[in-house]
Amino acid sequence: MTPPTIVMTGATSGLGAIAAARMTAAGARLLVGARGPGPHTGDGLPPLDLSRLDSVRAFAAALEEHLGATPIDVLALNAGVSFHHIDQRTADGYETTFAVNHLAHYLLLRRLLPRLADGGRVVITSSSVHDPERGGTLPPPRHASAKLLAAPELDPDRESSPRAAGGHAYTASKLCGLMTARTLARRPETLDKRLTVLAYDPGPTPGTGLSRNFSLPIRIVWSLLGTPLGALVPRMNSRRAAGHTLADLCLGTITPPAGQGYASLVRGRLTWPQPSKTARDDAAGEALWQDSAALVGLPA
Ligand SMILES: NC(=O)c1ccc[n+]([C@@H]2O[C@H](COP(=O)([O-])OP(=O)(O)OC[C@H]3O[C@@H](n4cnc5c(N)ncnc54)[C@H](OP(=O)(O)O)[C@@H]3O)[C@@H](O)[C@H]2O)c1
Repeated sequence: MTPPTIVMTGATSGLGAIAAARMTAAGARLLVGARGPGPHTGDGLPPLDLSRLDSVRAFAAALEEHLGATPIDVLALNAGVSFHHIDQRTADGYETTFAVNHLAHYLLLRRLLPRLADGGRVVITSSSVHDPERGGTLPPPRHASAKLLAAPELDPDRESSPRAAGGHAYTASKLCGLMTARTLARRPETLDKRLTVLAYDPGPTPGTGLSRNFSLPIRIVWSLLGTPLGALVPRMNSRRAAGHTLADLCLGTITPPAGQGYASLVRGRLTWPQPSKTARDDAAGEALWQDSAALVGLPA
C-alpha cells in the first residue's frame, strides 16, 4: 500500500511533534508547514508563518508544485498560540490568536481542499475550552463572529482585563476550529469526495509550548505539570497520549462512530461528546465560513 501523504501544521513542538513522530514511524510521508526548522521539516518547502496570510498563500503554492499529481490523504491543522492579551495584530491587521489559530488555517484548508484525495481526512485541533460547560478556568467564547474576533476592539462586550480578553480570544478561536470542521463536513465537495472531517480536543496537556507567551511562574507550573508530577492532577493528559491520539485520528487507525465528528481525550481515554450548543449552530457556522472567506479574500 502507498504510504499516506500527510500535510500538517504545529508539528515542531508539543503534542504535534509527538504525533508527527508516530505518523512518520508508521510510514507516512509527512509534509510540515512550520515557521522555523524542526525535526520533521526540510522538504524544500518555504517556511509557513501562520501570522501572515501571504506566507500561507506562498506555502500552499509551493506545496502544490512539490506534490505534482500526488493527492493529500490527510490535512492536520494543529498549530496554535495563546496570549494573555489581545494587543497583537498580524501583518494583515487581524488579532493574532484568531488569525493564527483560525484564519490562516481556514485559508490553508480552502487552498488545499481541491488537492485532497477521495476518502481523505481533515483533522482540526480544537479544544474542550470551546464549550462553556466543559471549559475550565478560561473565559468561554461568547460568539464566533469572525469580524469581531479579527478586530476585538469593535466588540462592545469585550472583556475589560487583558488576561480575560486573551483567554476569550483563545477559546473563541478553538470554537471557530470546531465550527469550521462541522461546516466543512456538510459542504458538497466534502460529500462528493467522501472526506472524513474531525475536530480533536487533546484535553489539558501540560508541558507543551502553549504557555510560551505567559509569565514565568505560569510557564514553570505548566512545565512541572508536564513531568510525572502532572499524573497526580486529575483531568490532565500526557503529551504522549495526546500526540498519539492525534496521529491515530490522522492515520485512520481510530474510526469515528457513525455521525460523530468531535473527538475529545479525557484522562487518556477517547470520547465522542456533543460539541457546545454554539458549535452546533449551523447558521453561525455558515456565517463564520463566509466571513472568514471575505477576510482572506476568497469567495464563500
Ligand atoms: N496543551 C493543551 O493543553 C491543549 C489543550 C487543547 C488544545 N490544544 C491545542 O493543541 C495544539 C497544539 O498545542 P501544544 O499544546 O502542543 O502547543 P505548542 O507546543 O506550543 O505547539 C504549537 C505549535 O504551533 C506552531 N505555531 C505557533 N504559531 C505559529 C505560526 N505563527 N506559524 C506556524 N506555526 C506556528 C508552533 O510552532 P513553533 O515550534 O514555531 O513555535 C508549534 O509547532 C494547539 O492548537 C492548541 O491550541 C492544546
